[in-house]
Amino acid sequence: MDERAAGMRIKVGEDGPYTVTGNVPLLRMEIVVNEAGESTGWREVERLEPGERYLLCRCGKSGDKPFCDFTHASEGFVGTETAGHDSYNEQSVSIDGPGVLLRDARKLCAEARFCDRGGGLWNLVGMCADPETRALAEEEAGLCPSGRYTICDEGSGTAHEPELEPAIVLIEDPQLGVSGPVFVCGGIEVVDAAGEPYEIRNRVTLCRCGESKNKPFCDGSHIAAEFKDWE
Ligand code: FES
Repeated sequence: MDERAAGMRIKVGEDGPYTVTGNVPLLRMEIVVNEAGESTGWREVERLEPGERYLLCRCGKSGDKPFCDFTHASEGFVGTETAGHDSYNEQSVSIDGPGVLLRDARKLCAEARFCDRGGGLWNLVGMCADPETRALAEEEAGLCPSGRYTICDEGSGTAHEPELEPAIVLIEDPQLGVSGPVFVCGGIEVVDAAGEPYEIRNRVTLCRCGESKNKPFCDGSHIAAEFKDWE
């Protein structure tokens, strides 16, 4: 675990909210796109000060989003966790390129679309003998909030992870006019409703629209659901 994330924790509530403890910073960031409409980066739009402990809505129906207002109880929200506890390596497939290995856990995709530039990350991997192409492949994989993708060195298997400060980021997707998941950065522990920890990772995305089929993780369903934090 990242030392800076020690004491920080997200507990998934049974059919209820995420309980966040340990003074975890809470930010809102939006996906930035280029002229071609491709996702290229992040822009911070708000920094909230929720304190040592706070409850984040998981059902998508709170009238006080991003925080829980206990609407889940009156709505009869069913938040059964279906993701299981397989590790990232167990969930992912590997794609070889010159000098690199791309790992891809498709099930974790949050549809943030950082993997589209240059013909798509899967295609870039095969052209990684070129340093600029490799740099773009590493950038695209590192921008992926869900951690679906990682670029590793061939042979040693060393993963190239972005440096992320432990924090929770509420994703906004202005291009599609929707709100996205809870982006958990920097190795913060996530514990299921039964008390079993998920694998600690540098990047994961948790569903906050209530519609994911891979709870507690986001599976991109917020787009079809047209989930909006402000409604
Ligand atoms: S926030 Fe992405 S599926 Fe719910």
